[in-house]
Amino acid sequence: MDTNNSSSNLPIGVFDSGVGGFTVVKALRHTLPGENIVYLGDSARVPYGTKSRETVIKYSLKNASFLCSKNIKMLVIACNTASAHSLEALRSELDIPVIGVIYPGAVSARQSTSRNNIGIIGTEGTVSSGEYGKYIRELSNGTVNTASEPCPLFVPLAEEGWVFGEVPGLVAHKYLSRLQRKLPEMDVLVLGCTHYPLLRDIIQNECDRIFSRRIKLIDSGISTAQVVQQKLESQTLLNKNNLHGELQVFVTDTSKISTIGNRFLGEPLSGVERVDIL
Ligand code: DGL
Repeated sequence: MDTNNSSSNLPIGVFDSGVGGFTVVKALRHTLPGENIVYLGDSARVPYGTKSRETVIKYSLKNASFLCSKNIKMLVIACNTASAHSLEALRSELDIPVIGVIYPGAVSARQSTSRNNIGIIGTEGTVSSGEYGKYIRELSNGTVNTASEPCPLFVPLAEEGWVFGEVPGLVAHKYLSRLQRKLPEMDVLVLGCTHYPLLRDIIQNECDRIFSRRIKLIDSGISTAQVVQQKLESQTLLNKNNLHGELQVFVTDTSKISTIGNRFLGEPLSGVERVDIL
């Protein structure tokens, strides 16, 4: 029996404030290699992490409306800040499934902690929204303690490719020491920003040193790819006819995209198109 839904061949739409969301696309392509993906990076208006909730919701609605014009079967909000602020607005506006990165990351973190102490790092917007902490508390009936720390300098460091050595080490040390003072018993840390997986090694080293124990890092992008897979399966939307899904990339500004993009995506980027949705 063919259980394929007629919409299963349609692409998944993914948006981010810029190129950071390629870390989520990388995880999606690894978990779901047959899926076609249409990506929109709002690189003309990046960063979202320092902007108000109202502004991020407004930009997110525009991004979603562009992707819906490409006839997508599902929307993935790759940007943590946009997920924190605009998931509800997008869900009430769209009639396709909408998945953000925060809830999947919170579920993985909850499952991974044995000391019931979870740290969260992200942009100023994500941290001040309190969304990760809210979900983790809900999932644990209030038995898990959380603390968070904004790490804004990680974003330019990842984009510059400064992911090893003295400078990112000092920056990581400063941020993670602050977290250690707030939550000394932490054993799990959520990388609550698209850019942070690029700094994974340095964050891991500094964490292990500062907390004097092995800290488990949670990459929300990887957790999200697993949730997307489950959702597609449960809605019979998995694209089973395809072995190599296509990736179509749109950006609102092309500067530096191809150099930075390759690094975040982990594969060569081709055929990037600029669109005007402003
Ligand atoms: N994509 C953003 C996030 O994951 C980081 C970059 C920005 O501030 O726009 O929160």
